[in-house]
Amino acid sequence: PKHFAIVPAAGSGSRMVSDLPKQYLSLLDKPLIRHALETLCAAPEIDKVFVVLSVGDALWAQYDWSDLAPKLVPLFCGGATRADSVLAGLRAISAEAAQSDWVLVHDAARPCLAPWHIDRLVRELAHDEVGGLLAVPVADTLKRADTQRRVLQTVPRDSLWQAQTPQMFRYVMLRRALEGARDVTDEASAIEAAGLHPKLVQGDATNLKVTYPLDLHLAEWILKNREG
Ligand code: CTP
Ligand code: MG
Repeated sequence: PKHFAIVPAAGSGSRMVSDLPKQYLSLLDKPLIRHALETLCAAPEIDKVFVVLSVGDALWAQYDWSDLAPKLVPLFCGGATRADSVLAGLRAISAEAAQSDWVLVHDAARPCLAPWHIDRLVRELAHDEVGGLLAVPVADTLKRADTQRRVLQTVPRDSLWQAQTPQMFRYVMLRRALEGARDVTDEASAIEAAGLHPKLVQGDATNLKVTYPLDLHLAEWILKNREG
C-alpha cells in the first residue's frame, strides 16, 4: 500500500495571539509549516504530502514551494474544525487513494517532527489491523477539579498518554470514521468512536505542538540543537 500524508493547516492559531496564523510564523528563517513539510517530503516511506489550507489562504502563494514539488500538493479546502479539514482532504484525494492505502495525518503546527518519528510509526504499524499514533506517557501528576478549581481527585497517570501526530490509519477506515464522528480533536478519537483500538507508538516530547507563544521558543531550541 501507499502512504499519503495529510497536513491540516487551515487553523487560525487563536491561542498563539500573533498577527499571522501560526503555521506561517517565522521559525529559523522559514515559515513554521515548512519544517514538517520538508521532513515528510524527505521521508522515503511517504509517497505524497497533501497540505490542507483554508479556502481563502493568501499566504501560501507568497512562498516558493517548488523544491518540494511534485511530492507536495496544496489543497485549498480546509473546514471550520481540524476534523473538517482532514475530512475535506481525504475527500479531495479519493481518486488517488486506494481503500487500503495508509494516511498519516500530521499537524502543521508540529514543526519538530523527526525522520525517526515517521520511521518508527510506519514500521510498528505496517501489519496492524487498525493503525495508531505517536504518543508520550504523561509525566505530571493529574488532578480532576470542579469549576471552583477544588481538586476532586487525583487521576492515576500510569495508563495515560498524550496523543501526538502523525496518526496513521487506512484511508477507507479513517474516512468512514471521520464521516461518522465530527466532534473530535484527533483522528484516533474518531476511530475509537467506531469501536476500534488504535495502537500507541512511543514518540518523544520534542515533537511538540506549537500552541502558545512559549512553544515557538521551545521548537526553535529543539530544531537548533538537532541540526547543530
Ligand atoms: N486546523 C485545520 N483546520 C481548522 C483548525 C485547525 O486544519 N479548522 C489545523 C491547524 O492549522 C493545526 C492543526 O489543525 O495545524 C492543529 O490545530 P491547533 O493546534 O488547534 O491549531 P489552531 O486551531 O490553528 O489554533 P487554535 O486552536 O489556538 O486557534
Ligand atoms: Mg484549534
